[in-house]
Amino acid sequence: MVSHSHSLSQFSSFLLLLVPLLVLPHPVLSQCKRPPVIFNFGDSNSDTGGLVAGLGFPVDWPNGRTFFRRSTGRLSDGRLLIDLLCQSLNTSYLSPYLDSLGSKFTNGANFAVVGSSTLPKYVPFSLNIQLMQFLRFKARTLELVTTGLGNMINDEGFQNALYMIDMGQNDIADSFLKNLTYAEVVKRIPSIITEIKNAVKTLYDHGGRNFWIHNTGPLGCLPQKLSLVEKEDLDPHGCLSTYNSAAGLFNEGLRHLCLEMRSELRDANIVYVDIYAIKYDLIANSTQYGFSSPLMACCGNGGPPYNYNIRVTCGHPGSQACEEGSKVVNWDGIHYTEAANSFVASKVLSTAYSTPRTTFDFFCRG
Ligand SMILES: *[C@@H]1O[C@H](CO)[C@@H](O)[C@H](O)[C@H]1NC(C)=O
Ligand SMILES: *[C@@H]1O[C@H](CO)[C@@H](O)[C@H](O)[C@H]1NC(C)=O
Ligand SMILES: *[C@@H]1O[C@H](CO)[C@@H](O)[C@H](O)[C@H]1NC(C)=O
Repeated sequence: MVSHSHSLSQFSSFLLLLVPLLVLPHPVLSQCKRPPVIFNFGDSNSDTGGLVAGLGFPVDWPNGRTFFRRSTGRLSDGRLLIDLLCQSLNTSYLSPYLDSLGSKFTNGANFAVVGSSTLPKYVPFSLNIQLMQFLRFKARTLELVTTGLGNMINDEGFQNALYMIDMGQNDIADSFLKNLTYAEVVKRIPSIITEIKNAVKTLYDHGGRNFWIHNTGPLGCLPQKLSLVEKEDLDPHGCLSTYNSAAGLFNEGLRHLCLEMRSELRDANIVYVDIYAIKYDLIANSTQYGFSSPLMACCGNGGPPYNYNIRVTCGHPGSQACEEGSKVVNWDGIHYTEAANSFVASKVLSTAYSTPRTTFDFFCRG
């Protein structure tokens, strides 16, 4: 009897252990019944149609050939990281703030525009201009809410919103393009970081508490850079060391800024995501992940090694695209394919590259 009741109690404690495991939903299947409102600030890496809406600048086929089956203004064959992150929360893709046709802004807005940088500060569509657009968006929305226009973001929505920033790549790229020396490029980094700091603080001062900040990728691995620059400093994976070092220093500054702001703005969630490590791993270990030719553009002109020609870029007459369905990393010499973006998104969602390791659905409101 004793041994029987002993095993019974063992069994019931086993059950007690088991029950919470059965009840807890698997993290991947976790539901986001009320996704957060999302506001995004950035460049082409997260532009979901802002350039086309704002300037009428054409982004032609074969951009968008995967998934959307039409050009949407995204510089990719398909979805961007931000699209895949939105999808993970079961929320719609973000409408570009400047898109006046067919857009709805009930789940947030995307201020990102191709080519944007933090500096110069007062040039469209710098981070600062995007921020000013957001402040206008917020003021106008709250004004409309009080007049009883339903289904708009209210004050609480703005407070609980997730504010995403993905900027810096063009600041570094433009500095190299202006023939600044490596030392001069590095000297500009603190002022770029200051702009991002100002952006976070401004959003915080306006009630924002949740921030999701991407660092910048290894721009020295981009076919465009590799084809334009004299290649005296290639790293073991064939990327430009100076470009990647500058990106690394910028990222170090950004990581430090997030650390500093976490102690300064104590009631804020500030998540820093190491996109660089994810992308560099994908390029260095492309074969292992089922990808090929990580330094060659799918869509471009000129063939190997980079298939990039500044006079015949993707979508322009004379350019050609690789076979649809091929698992390549780079789309047009600068931007990633949907396949690569999906790889990046899965790594971002794993939280392994985040500091702190906050899940993306942490910001769901139920
Ligand atoms: C996603 O949203 C749709 C409606 O927008 C809903 O029917 C569905 O249950 C949601 N799925 C999850 C996993 O939350
Ligand atoms: C940078 O240097 C290259 C090569 O020396 C030159 O062709 C180009 O015009 C220079 N660009 C600027 C902005 O000075
Ligand atoms: C490539 O993969 C190996 C083994 O998984 C890993 O140790 C290494 O850090 C990866 N390289 C990069 C650049 O992430």
